[in-house]
Amino acid sequence: MTLDFLGTLQRTHHCGDLRSTNSGETVTLMGWVNRRRDHGNLIFLDLRDRTGITQVVLDKEASPLGHAKAEAARPEYVVAVTGRVRTRGEGLTNPNMPTGDIEVVASDVLLLNDAKTPPFPIADDAPITNEEIRLKYRYLDLRRPELQRNFALRHKVTRAIRDYLSDNGFLEIETPLLTRSTPEGARDYLVPSRVHPGHFFALPQSPQIFKQLLMVSGFDRYFQIARCFRDEDLRADRQPDFTQIDLELSFPQMSTIFAVAEGFLHAAFSAAGITLPDAPFIQMTYDQAIQRYGIDKPDMRLPAMVDLSAELTPELRETLKIDPTLPVLGFTIPSVGEMSGTARKALVSEIRATFGDTGLDMLDVARLRTNATFVPLAEAIDGKLSAELSAFTANGQLRTENAADLHIVITAKPGTPAMWNYDPQWIYKRVGQLRLDLAKKYADKHKLFEPTHTAADFKFLWVTDFPMYEWNEESKTWDAAHHPFTSPHEEDIQSGALVNDKGSVRALAYDVVLNGTELGSGSIRIHRKDVQAEIFRSLGMSNEEAHERFGFFLDALEYGTPPHGGIALGLDRIVMILAGASSLREVIAFPKTAKAIDLMVDAPTTVSDTQLRDLHLKTVIRS
Ligand code: AMO
Repeated sequence: MTLDFLGTLQRTHHCGDLRSTNSGETVTLMGWVNRRRDHGNLIFLDLRDRTGITQVVLDKEASPLGHAKAEAARPEYVVAVTGRVRTRGEGLTNPNMPTGDIEVVASDVLLLNDAKTPPFPIADDAPITNEEIRLKYRYLDLRRPELQRNFALRHKVTRAIRDYLSDNGFLEIETPLLTRSTPEGARDYLVPSRVHPGHFFALPQSPQIFKQLLMVSGFDRYFQIARCFRDEDLRADRQPDFTQIDLELSFPQMSTIFAVAEGFLHAAFSAAGITLPDAPFIQMTYDQAIQRYGIDKPDMRLPAMVDLSAELTPELRETLKIDPTLPVLGFTIPSVGEMSGTARKALVSEIRATFGDTGLDMLDVARLRTNATFVPLAEAIDGKLSAELSAFTANGQLRTENAADLHIVITAKPGTPAMWNYDPQWIYKRVGQLRLDLAKKYADKHKLFEPTHTAADFKFLWVTDFPMYEWNEESKTWDAAHHPFTSPHEEDIQSGALVNDKGSVRALAYDVVLNGTELGSGSIRIHRKDVQAEIFRSLGMSNEEAHERFGFFLDALEYGTPPHGGIALGLDRIVMILAGASSLREVIAFPKTAKAIDLMVDAPTTVSDTQLRDLHLKTVIRS
C-alpha cells in the first residue's frame, strides 16, 4: 500500500463540526479511522479527531479509487477525506452522536499514514485494566475519548481559575525551578551543578519562600500555576511532580483568603458545568474535625462520629469493662443492607483483630440488644446514632431508602493505650480510620463515594486552627505541622506556650477539604523577624542553621515585610475529582507510576560517564 502526500489540501472542518445545516457543502476532514465497516460496494469509515466523529461513506461506483483506499484503511490510520455532506436517510440517524444526522459522501480519500494495531482499543470508553501498558503507550492512551475529555476539562478549569485570579487583582509571576531546598516536609529532587562542583540545586517542593518574598517586594497579590516536585511515598492522589494553584496576599485576614479560594473554586466548578451554592463553605477547627470525624480532612458525605460517653453510667462502664477516662465513640455506615448473625459476628472479630493491642474494643450493639441486662443501653446508643443519621438524611444525602444501617460503637479497655500519652486525640483518629475503612468496604452498598455531578454531592469545608507543632516519636522532637513560616495565634505567642507547651500552640493554618480529600493548605505567615527566629529556635534549629538555610529570608524580613498569607491548592486533585477519576494519573498527561517511574520515556535512567564527569560526580550505589 502506498501512502499519499498531503500536498496543499486544507482541512475545512473538524470531525465534530458538521450538522444537517451543512448538507450539500463540500468539505475536507482529516483524522484517524475510528472504525471501518465494509459492506461490499459501500465502506463506512468513522473518522475521529479531538472534537468528535463523522461517518464517511465510500461508494465503489461513484469513487472507485477512494473506495480502494478505504478498503486498505485500518483503525488508527490517518486519512483525509473530501466529499459532500448529506443528511442521513430516515431511520439511519444516530441520536447518540452530535454529527449523527449527517454523513460525508467521499469523492476522494488520502491515506496520510498507516498505523500498527494499537496494544489496546482506542475507539471505545471501556476501561483498560493493564495500567503499565497504558503508561508505556501513553500517547495512545491519551488518544482515548475518556482522556481527551479529561484534558479538555483540565484546560477549562485552569483557564477559569487563571481568569478569576487575574480579574481579582492577582499578578501571575513565575518563580525558579532551579533553587534551594524548601521546607514542605518531603525529600527534595536534587540537580547537580556543573559549574560549582559538589553543589546542588533543589527543585522546589512549592514556591513558598519566593511568594513570601514577592509580598516583601510589594506585589500585593501573586498567583502561579506552579509545578512542584516532591520525593515522597506516592498514592493515588500524590505524584512526584504536580501542579499547585499557588497564591499569596498582603494584608489579608483569613476570611480574605477563604473568599478568594472559594471564588476560584466556584469558577472552576462552573467551568465544569457545576454551579456550587452561594453559601460560604462551612468551617470547623482542627479539634472539632478530629472529634467528629477522627481526621483533619473529614469526608462529610458520611455521618459524623458521636460521643456516646454520656449514655454510659459509671456502673455500666464498670460492668462492661470500659476505661472511664476515654470517650466511647459510635458511628453509622448507612445502607449496608441486612446482615446475618454470622456476618455480623465475623465483622466484629475482624474489627477487633485490626485493633490489635491498642486497648480498643467493640461494643456490639446488636448483641447487647438481645441481652436483657443491657437492652436500655443498646437502645440509647442506637437512638443517638439514628438521630445523627436522620439529621444526615435530612440534608438529602442518603440516596438509598429503607436503609439497613450499620451502627458501630468503640470503647477503650481499662488501661491507657501507649499512644495516649503523647497524642490525646489518638482514639478519635483510630476510630475515624475504622469509619473510613468500613465506609470503603461497603461502598458498593451505600454508593456515597460514586462520582457525582450535582453540586450537593461536593462537600467542601475549611479546617482551621491546626496545631503548630507535631510530635515526632521517632526523633523525639517537635516538627512544624505545616511549614515553619506559619504564624502561631498571637495569644499563644504572648502566653509563652511556644516555649512551655508546644503541643497546645495553634497555628493560623487552614486546609480546604472536599469529600475527604485535602484540596489545599495555607496559612497566615510570620512577618516579623523576631517571631520567625523564635519559631526556628523552637523547632530545634540553631541560629547558625537558620542563617545557613534561610539567612536571605530572615534578612528580607528586616526590610518592611507586610503581614501576609496565602494558600496553595492541588490543581491535579481538583481536576481528578471533577473528572470523577480515582487517580491523578487520569488527569496528568505524562504521569509516573506508584514507584515514581515514567514508563514511556523510561526515566529515571543511568547517565553516561561523560555526563557524570562533567558534573564532577561518581555513582556509588549503597544498598
Ligand atoms: P501543601 O504541602 O499542603 O502546602 O500543598 C498544597 C496542596 O498541594 C497538593 N499536593 C499534591 N498534589 C499532588 N501530588 C503531591 N505529591 C502533592 N503534594 C501536595 C495538595 C495540597 O493540599 N506552600 C504550602 C502552601 C501554602 O502555605 O501556601 C504547600 O505547598 O492538594
